[in-house]
Amino acid sequence: MLMEAQDISVAIGGRLVLNGESVRCKPGTITALVGASGSGKTTLLHCLGLLLPVDKGSILIDGNNVTKYGTAARRQFWRNHAAFVLQDYGIMDEESVAFNVTMKTNIIGGRVSGNKEKLMHSLEQTGLTGRENELAGHLSGGEKQRLALSRAIYKDADILFVDEPTASLDEANRRTVIELLADFAVRGRTVIVSTHDSEMMEACDALHQVGANNSPQKLRNI
Ligand SMILES: Nc1ncnc2c1ncn2[C@@H]1O[C@H](COP(=O)(O)OP(=O)(O)O)[C@@H](O)[C@H]1O
Ligand SMILES: [Mg+2]
Repeated sequence: MLMEAQDISVAIGGRLVLNGESVRCKPGTITALVGASGSGKTTLLHCLGLLLPVDKGSILIDGNNVTKYGTAARRQFWRNHAAFVLQDYGIMDEESVAFNVTMKTNIIGGRVSGNKEKLMHSLEQTGLTGRENELAGHLSGGEKQRLALSRAIYKDADILFVDEPTASLDEANRRTVIELLADFAVRGRTVIVSTHDSEMMEACDALHQVGANNSPQKLRNI
């Protein structure tokens, strides 16, 4: 899926956070949203993921304008096409590692295990083998991030949104995560990451500098 922002602006608390950002994120590639801390990388990622509305400009999926999508259409996009690995990880602490990966419930809300083989594969990929029955709340920050990535692998979504994928990881896990994201892209998925890690940037196909339209005056006010 081709994910685009065209000339989007976002104001938060009366302050312009994004000012006319345009970016094209193509299938089969990793696009990095880069820039200084506070430049709006996370905000732009959230706009592209339809998690945050824009005040001006358009968001397009495969050329279709989805800026005005209502709640139902956005939910459908998240359910059918997107996977998110965000800063708060989206992990349910009271649930098991396995349920956090498969998110499978039966008709009355009971936890069912989903596809066991896929579950094991997705945990193995992120180094969480053997942890499936633990409470997710007992995992460390870096482990929760890898758990969110396992969920994305299990889902094999068309578009992957990842906020600072390598920020809280040691060198070995950083390499693993970069390789996993590259593997998503090789399989034709659209991968969008916000990052200030140069090693991550090197693995990306396109870099988009966030905040390039912000004047020095505006940046001083941030
Ligand atoms: N919910 C929010 N409330 C207030 N300010 C926000 C909010 N979200 C983002 N901002 C502000 O917008 C700017 C960009 O934030 P962010 O997108 O998180 O930057 P980055 O990810 O590049 O560090 C920052 O100045 C931040 O304080
Ligand atoms: Mg950020």
